[in-house]
Amino acid sequence: ADAHYYDFVLSEKNFTRLCSTKSMLVVNESFPGPVIRVHRGDTVFVNVHNQGYYGVTIHWHGVKQPGNPWSDGPEYITQCPIEPSSNFTYEVNFSTEEGTLWWHAHSDWTRSSVHGAIVIYPIEGTTTPYPMPDDEEIIILGSWYTEDVNKLVAADLETGADTPRSNCYVINGQPGDLLPCSRESTYRWVVDYGKTYLVRIVNAAMNAELFFAIANHSLTVVGMDGNYVKPIISDYIMISPGQTMNVLLTANQSLSHYYIEIRQFDTARADVTDYDKTNATAILMYSGDYTAPDSPFFPSSLPSYMDFRSADRFLDSLRSLASKEHPVNVPLNVTTKMYITVSMNQLLCPNASCDGIDGNRLTSSLNNISFVNPSTDILLAYYRNLSGIYTTDFPNWPPSMFNFTQEDLPMNTTIPIQGTKAKVLNYNEEVEITFQGTEVLNASENHPVHMHGYTFYVVGSGYGNFNNETDPETYNLVDPLEVNTVGVPKNGWATIRFKASNPGVWFWHCHFDRHLSWGMNTVMIVKNGGTPETSLRPPPTYMPPCTLPYIT
Ligand code: C2O
Ligand code: CU
Repeated sequence: ADAHYYDFVLSEKNFTRLCSTKSMLVVNESFPGPVIRVHRGDTVFVNVHNQGYYGVTIHWHGVKQPGNPWSDGPEYITQCPIEPSSNFTYEVNFSTEEGTLWWHAHSDWTRSSVHGAIVIYPIEGTTTPYPMPDDEEIIILGSWYTEDVNKLVAADLETGADTPRSNCYVINGQPGDLLPCSRESTYRWVVDYGKTYLVRIVNAAMNAELFFAIANHSLTVVGMDGNYVKPIISDYIMISPGQTMNVLLTANQSLSHYYIEIRQFDTARADVTDYDKTNATAILMYSGDYTAPDSPFFPSSLPSYMDFRSADRFLDSLRSLASKEHPVNVPLNVTTKMYITVSMNQLLCPNASCDGIDGNRLTSSLNNISFVNPSTDILLAYYRNLSGIYTTDFPNWPPSMFNFTQEDLPMNTTIPIQGTKAKVLNYNEEVEITFQGTEVLNASENHPVHMHGYTFYVVGSGYGNFNNETDPETYNLVDPLEVNTVGVPKNGWATIRFKASNPGVWFWHCHFDRHLSWGMNTVMIVKNGGTPETSLRPPPTYMPPCTLPYIT
């Protein structure tokens, strides 16, 4: 295993999209940011220099970091922010991951501009389970805001109003030529006829699941979230924020230009006229001598905004590879079972400042607890036994059982408790969690739930209320997907299993940033095993201090 060293300089820079210019924080002057390339098992040291105006942290999404949450990144969970004019070196420990992951800021909504891909090759001398591609391509899907998104969000969180929608989506930083002032800058990917490419797709959008297709070309999905899947051929994919997918594409069509197109899969109540749902495009163009067409071909296979059937058909077809080299180890002797409701809520307004929004603030919760960030990070408080920072009473099930997916649920089901509550697990417990989406506030939608420090197996999912008698009979314990982010279906449920074999403090949250900002989060503390190898490492000699006030 090798060590690699990167410098990430975070600074403000001007970018122009959709005919307007703004300054935003980026890494090494680029949007999206630099690619990290490693082999399985390597270690990467990333020295992050903050030359911006606000405190910031970076998270290595999907990297399990065994015993080393100190470098995981979520602010006020495992560290305090790296303040302006200071720096912090992350030690990122790769273990079993192989494929594509990504990194992003984990402070406010800064991740909209601070993100990039992580490419993980197999250990040298070993190979991927599919034939070596001739070349590869990284495609990062993102959200674009014409204004300073952190300012907009801070104002909305203050009043309890809904957070802003992005003005468009982007593919490798560009909206594409269907959108104003974007023709020249459209992202172009040049391919050679006859070659096979590995396309590494990252959904870095802030609040949107996305359909993705390339005109006339089929995609063979071979990996997801740093794990291999049984190859499936599809002419579109659906990808949730936080997820990554590896797909093979063979350039076997006539020499021409083809659109790469994305569209939001909108599972909320239809308001599909919103501007940010205008599709973003890039162009796949063949090299060689030919007359370029007036317009590239459009993908005919891109599902429409509310096409649940196409989304489900794609998701249901995904299975872990489950080969001898890449085995599946679903825990079979569950010791901790949890049932967690995932809800949008309203919080009674504490004072007159909320008048404009009917006295109620938008919020969200897990098991009716809306998470509040502490002022000192939970990891340090846990390590040093500091009291008063968090409590350990995150409940294993909701405070009351009702018909979670019924329309027009009574108001008294919608008022959550605020708190900084953690779930404590013993080392190596075998955990099963059923996430139950709810119709509280009549605001059900899919929720891409992400867990730090772990991957987990998605053993089942379905629509409606989870049925404890019949649904477990449908579980797939043979080749379930192993991922770090699962889409809990709108008005439905998803059950995951994992072994609590990574000691430390790990964040869980919905990867829609609007829900994250409203408290659809919690923390899992996994206690040490009996040996140094099964224990949380001591902190590095320097961690950013928690003494500075939070800047808004
Ligand atoms: Cu992709 Cu908590 O993050
Ligand atoms: Cu959510």
